[in-house]
Amino acid sequence: MSAERPSWAPQDIDVEKPNAARIYDYLLGGACNFEPDRRFAEQFLKIVPNVDRSFRANRAFLGRAVRFCVDAGIRQFLDIGSGIPTVGNVHEIAQGLAPECRVVYVDNEPVAVAHSEAILEDNRNAAVLHADLSDPDTVLNSDSVARLIDFEQPMALLMVAVLHFVPDSAEPRASVARYLGPMAPGSYFVVSHGSTAGLDDVPAGAERAYDNTTTPFISRNHAEVMDLMAGTELVEPGLVWVPQWRPEAPGDVGDDPARIGIMGAVGRKPR
Ligand SMILES: C[S@@+](CC[C@H](N)C(=O)[O-])C[C@H]1O[C@@H](n2cnc3c(N)ncnc32)[C@H](O)[C@@H]1O
Repeated sequence: MSAERPSWAPQDIDVEKPNAARIYDYLLGGACNFEPDRRFAEQFLKIVPNVDRSFRANRAFLGRAVRFCVDAGIRQFLDIGSGIPTVGNVHEIAQGLAPECRVVYVDNEPVAVAHSEAILEDNRNAAVLHADLSDPDTVLNSDSVARLIDFEQPMALLMVAVLHFVPDSAEPRASVARYLGPMAPGSYFVVSHGSTAGLDDVPAGAERAYDNTTTPFISRNHAEVMDLMAGTELVEPGLVWVPQWRPEAPGDVGDDPARIGIMGAVGRKPR
């Protein structure tokens, strides 16, 4: 069956195969997705019934981490794997608190880039770049980064719910090190990462479900995610299930945060 190609869909994408950006968009209630993405998401919900809750918890973590960074004095953000714009975008949160904040979004998925371009048209302090996390030189040498990021000043690097789409063969640790290298001391690194490590009853098929998408998923455990954050000192409470990271109210954590299946942390580049 051939999927529809809406008028807003960039020509250079495969609309037949589900993709993480558009599955996430659909499960967060967005409209920037295609029939195969929606079909995949509905099937995935049958395997992991709380996955939409996990995605919302991840998005809430992103919001709290951005507010934490702004409160800590950060005014520039490089958000890699930024996704399709949805509720609580990084520039909206950061510029809502401090209008001078500058944001560069990076994503390798054309729908995410096209929609980000559209909403940033009138925003001089934010830009989006179509690039891959595993190509740090393209990102770091881009015009957008040159215009909006001052490496002499502390910044925040965000990789939220994206590293689990980067296999070890693509050397994510080397890419992270390349991004962290030029960042000023006192900069922050915000990470969230999918993980089945907290569950002894992983639903059959859950880990392999994304294999048939353009973005296969790789679960990593606590030590492996810590390793990706090497070179930073984690702020309290360290690497935890995302609802446990500085919750706004104790009731927000829930009874079984490991079931959310996404870990999060904020690291600080030492002085
Ligand atoms: C689950 S979404 C997360 C969006 C946002 N960071 C959030 O947490 O709400 C993952 C995003 O990472 C993007 N992505 C996956 N692999 C990537 C890569 N190698 N380079 C850049 N972006 C990537 C996807 O296209 C998607 O938009």
